[in-house]
This record gives sequence, C-alpha cells and structure tokens, in this order.
Amino acid sequence: AGGQDLAGRHVVVSAGGTREPLDPVRFLGNRSSGKQGWALAATAAARGARVTLLAANVELPDPAGVDVVRVSTALELREAARKAVADADAVVMAAAVADFRPAEYATGKIKKVDGAEPAPVVLVRNPDILAELSAERAFAGQLVVGFAAETDDVLANGRAKLARKGCDLLVVNEVGDGKAFGRDTNAATIMAADGGETVVAHGPKDVLADAVWDEVAARLG
Ligand code: PMT
Repeated sequence: AGGQDLAGRHVVVSAGGTREPLDPVRFLGNRSSGKQGWALAATAAARGARVTLLAANVELPDPAGVDVVRVSTALELREAARKAVADADAVVMAAAVADFRPAEYATGKIKKVDGAEPAPVVLVRNPDILAELSAERAFAGQLVVGFAAETDDVLANGRAKLARKGCDLLVVNEVGDGKAFGRDTNAATIMAADGGETVVAHGPKDVLADAVWDEVAARLG
C-alpha cells in the first residue's frame, strides 16, 4: 500500500447485501456481511481518500472518517449510488445485489390459508447497477470496479462478466462452501479490461482491499 496515494480523491464503495421485501416481515436476501466493503472503505480512508460507503443491511459500526449511507433494496442502492458517484474518481461495487425482486409487495403479512397451496412468488429483474455505472460514467476517466461472486469456472465466468458489465476492473472471488461471505478472509483474481490479472492469495480482507486500491491508484495516475 502506498502511503497517502488516494489523497484528494473521492471514492465510493458499496457493501453488504440487498434485501428485497415480500411483505412487511419477509425478504429475499443473501449472506453478505459487508466485511469486504468495510475493509475497502477503511483502507481507502487510511490512504487519504474521501470515502462514501453505501451500506446495504450491514450490522457493523461505521468505519472512522467515512461517510456512510444506509440503504436496503437494490433500487435504493441504485439511487444512492447515482448521487454519490457524481464527483467520484472511482466506485467499487462490493455489495451483493439481488438480480431479482418480488414482482409484488404485500402490504399486509402473507397468511397461510388452510388447505390451500402457497401462491408462487413471481420475480422481476432488478437493474444492473454496475453495468449502468459503467455505461453512464459521470465523466471520462471515472474508474468503475466490480466484484464477481462465482462458485464454478471462476476465471472464465469472471472474464465474461467483466466484458458484460463494462467495468475497468473486476475482483473475482470464489464463494460457496463457506468461502468469502461472512468470513474475515478472502482470495481473488483482480481482472482488468486491458487483459491484466493480479492474483491475491488467501488472506485478510484488508489485504485484498489494499490490492484493489493499488490497481485503482495506478490507473488514476
Ligand atoms: O460482505 P462479505 O460477507 O464480506 O462478502 C463479500 C462478498 C463475497 C459479498 C464480495 O466479496 C463480493 O463478491 N461481492 C459481489 C457479490 C455479487 O453480487 O456478485 P455478482 O457476481 O452477483 O455481481 C457482479 C457485480 O455486479 C458486483 O459488483 C455487484 O455489486 C454488481 N451487481 C450485481 C447485480 C445487480 N443487479 N447490480 C449490480 O450492480
């Protein structure tokens, strides 16, 4: 990590997992704890950046010196991200965003009816926030970084996802079997749109976070 190499920069980080409500008491969610995003925010602040942390359902205390915006659904995260990135040099999407949400929200708790089968849950697509941020950059040269959570064919899926999302860097981490989600450690390959690949060995999430900022700082020049 390079001292204060992010001084004067504004970076936006998303963390945690979105929750997509079915009714007032139930939601579709995922296992993200927010730890990887927290590590990104804390390390960027330590390197001198002004940091906006978009936190989706994270139960961790605010990192020192970081501006935290709490959201819950993918649509709320999209709105918060659009506002935050207006003057951001870089945005890193570490949040696990639900690809789908229930088509309908029941304003009262869904009840079971004696003798009747449950109604199917119909899902609709959420916007792809990372793809939107990549396609509609606030200014030329704004860096957009995604994460990819993959369970199989990790590198091939990561390379395809990088092309599909249109971001500059994609941090590809393997999930499942107790990996990454909720842990204090992670391992990843940081893939660049220009073809570069940096392997970060299994270790603390802070170490991966610093490796991501190394790549970002090198590209911000
Ligand atoms: O929070 P932790 O417990 O520390 O766990 C960390 C982590 C495993 C959640 C994190 O390292 C990680 O991999 N985050 C991305 C999870 C994810 O949603 O991956 P994905 O492959 O489904 O999505 C790819 C990228 O597109 C991500 O940057 C995601 O933020 C973004 N995305 C996805 C869907 C969507 N509708 N909009 C998006 O912006």
